[in-house]
Amino acid sequence: MDTAQFITKSFKDSIEKANFSWQTPSNIALVKYWGKSNPQIPKNASISFTLNNCHTITTIKFEKKEKTSSVDFELFFEGKEKEEFKPKIADFFTRIQDYCSYIFEYKMTINSENSFPHSSGIASSASGLSAIAMCLMSLEHALNPTLTKEFINKKASFLARLGSGSASRSIEGPLVVWGTHPNIEGSSDLFGIQFPYKVHSVFENYQDAILLVDKGEKQVSSTVGHNLMHDHPYAENRFQQANENMSKMVEILQNGDIKAFVNLVESEALTLHAMMLTSTPYFVLMKPNTLEIINRIWEYRKEHDSNLCFTLDAGANVHVLYPELEKESVNQFIENQLSKYCQKNHYICDSVGYGAAQL
Ligand code: DP6
Repeated sequence: MDTAQFITKSFKDSIEKANFSWQTPSNIALVKYWGKSNPQIPKNASISFTLNNCHTITTIKFEKKEKTSSVDFELFFEGKEKEEFKPKIADFFTRIQDYCSYIFEYKMTINSENSFPHSSGIASSASGLSAIAMCLMSLEHALNPTLTKEFINKKASFLARLGSGSASRSIEGPLVVWGTHPNIEGSSDLFGIQFPYKVHSVFENYQDAILLVDKGEKQVSSTVGHNLMHDHPYAENRFQQANENMSKMVEILQNGDIKAFVNLVESEALTLHAMMLTSTPYFVLMKPNTLEIINRIWEYRKEHDSNLCFTLDAGANVHVLYPELEKESVNQFIENQLSKYCQKNHYICDSVGYGAAQL
């Protein structure tokens, strides 16, 4: 695989001090990534909607220093120094050091905040790591002004992937594919790409309401979760099915067959959970209210001939997806009938977004 293109050579320009700020989004997978091999290579291709309102804002202050053999950084989250978040970021820097050797020549002060509450059960690793990746790429661009926007996004996604697989899908929007797939031109295991075909108008400005059923710490970390796929009896079939579902999704997104979309997206979510129900050890990650919500969604869809559907990540929260055309009616349904299943009636209304933005 062509990773050599991402290794930095020495730079002509020198930067003593710089500050870069980026806002990068969270994303929600339609066909799920679940299972990987080293180094962060997905077992199947996945595709996600980039979100708009759920994002991280990160500023990194870079100050030139003597080159050292370890990475020197401080980390502040919502204004407070966060020692407990440091090991994950230190690990990220170790994974990317061969591609960004300049990080040894700067003291980095990282300031980060999320638009969503930290303890909301919304994973912040995708937006958090993509934001750091974009700040690093801004420094790299300053050091080497010949870099193109296309390369910057590609390498940012490549770096973010090394931190967290789904973070590779948090640079661009509105639909991003990660993982090599024969029917998707330009797709790669190394970085995410924008869905390269024309998307039907029914999927424009798609809505995602995130129902916060369980705001606690994740019961299964993604590292543990992905590892469960290693000796899983159904793993190979699952990876094959996911790639077949990607082929179907490629067609659906172009032809606008929204009924097929609903079926595929819900099936993907339930299959992800089925993998965890049938792994060793096994996990039930839904809560009773997750099932209540799913049943209410099915009833509503039948009664109103609606096209809303749900998807799930590796937890109890429910993402309700629906076309913009149904925004008013579905928002009312959520407020009146679903919010009572959320912790403290808390849910977040979001919609599809267009990716990272420099501030
Ligand atoms: C269920 O990207 O969090 O959300 O690569 O170990 O950081 P790591 O995993 P992560 O896994 C996300 C899995 C998922 C499905 C998806 O987003 O595709």
